[in-house]
Amino acid sequence: MFFFSFWWLLAVCGCTFAYIEIPEAYLAAIRQDRADDQSAGEYNYDNQGDDWTGTCQTGESQSPIDLIFDDAKIVSIPRLRFNYYDQPLQTPLVIVNNGHTANMVIPLTQRGQRASINGSLLPGTFEAQSVHFHWGYYHTKGSEHAINFERYDVEMHIVHKNTIYDTMGEATQHPDGLAVLGVMFRAVNRQSSQHYGLNKIFNQLPRIVQYNTNATIMGRLTVGQLLGNIVTGEFFTYNGSLTTPDCAESVTWTVFPDVLDYPYRQIARLWNLKDSRQKPLVDNYRSLQDINNREVYYRTI
Ligand SMILES: *[C@@H]1O[C@H](CO)[C@@H](O)[C@H](O)[C@H]1NC(C)=O
Ligand SMILES: *[C@@H]1O[C@H](CO)[C@@H](O)[C@H](O)[C@H]1NC(C)=O
Ligand SMILES: *[C@@H]1O[C@H](CO)[C@@H](O)[C@H](O)[C@H]1NC(C)=O
Ligand SMILES: [Zn+2]
Repeated sequence: MFFFSFWWLLAVCGCTFAYIEIPEAYLAAIRQDRADDQSAGEYNYDNQGDDWTGTCQTGESQSPIDLIFDDAKIVSIPRLRFNYYDQPLQTPLVIVNNGHTANMVIPLTQRGQRASINGSLLPGTFEAQSVHFHWGYYHTKGSEHAINFERYDVEMHIVHKNTIYDTMGEATQHPDGLAVLGVMFRAVNRQSSQHYGLNKIFNQLPRIVQYNTNATIMGRLTVGQLLGNIVTGEFFTYNGSLTTPDCAESVTWTVFPDVLDYPYRQIARLWNLKDSRQKPLVDNYRSLQDINNREVYYRTI
């Protein structure tokens, strides 16, 4: 169908198209990301993760948690550094409905670098691997973390891997393996959005309604654009886990209290996605976990 209309268009307008090939390294990264997600076995959000087993059940440093300003340790923390976050990524980008979320593996920049973060309390430099979302439904808020007892409509996760590890599989086996940025979205009644980068992703959601489907995103996108205009100088940081099985305790979390306002109309597109059972993929957030004896740090400007 796609190719039919493509060639039809080509025939009709007679324009010259540069055929866009997806680099093999990017395809391999997408396949590996799917394999990593599937290695945890089947799971769903029917009980918000309370029925997940293994470390999800027994871990003592689990995520998400309630981030409470009054309980956080306010210390002098170096700023978070964003490397190559302003560099356009290679195209096309591929967004996949993997049955748990809408996920996009982040390719290299057009100049061949990898967007990364360091600074803060991060134990190293961490390269951006993928971005995905957690959401609710008409009457539920779908963020994973709560901030001062409040949850938000959507939480975006930008997953990064410590450069000292070769693969995600290896990184998840170490406490300093991963760094995830959490960004809260608030649904607002505004028709248009200046969040150009996010729109590129959200505009493709109608094409990945079914489980195991994908869509390509063309045009200029930087990882930095995903952050919209939020203030990144203030954040919570703590040691936690993946919020999906196997809930590996390998994540240094950074969650920004500044919230990104995003049109309700765009956010509602997430609610149409379906999981591998053909059920609506909604409320894909894990329930709050005990802090136990962990320290939560807060950086102020
Ligand atoms: C942060 O990463 C950049 C880019 O890799 C590097 O040049 C810089 O030295 C790193 N800084 C720290 C504090 O690790
Ligand atoms: C996207 O979906 C098509 C059609 O099912 C499939 O052939 C292709 O391998 C998928 N691409 C990726 C990167 O998953
Ligand atoms: C995470 O744990 C390590 C090892 O215990 C510790 O050095 C580091 O400060 C912790 N980081 C945060 C953000 O809590
Ligand atoms: Zn997540």
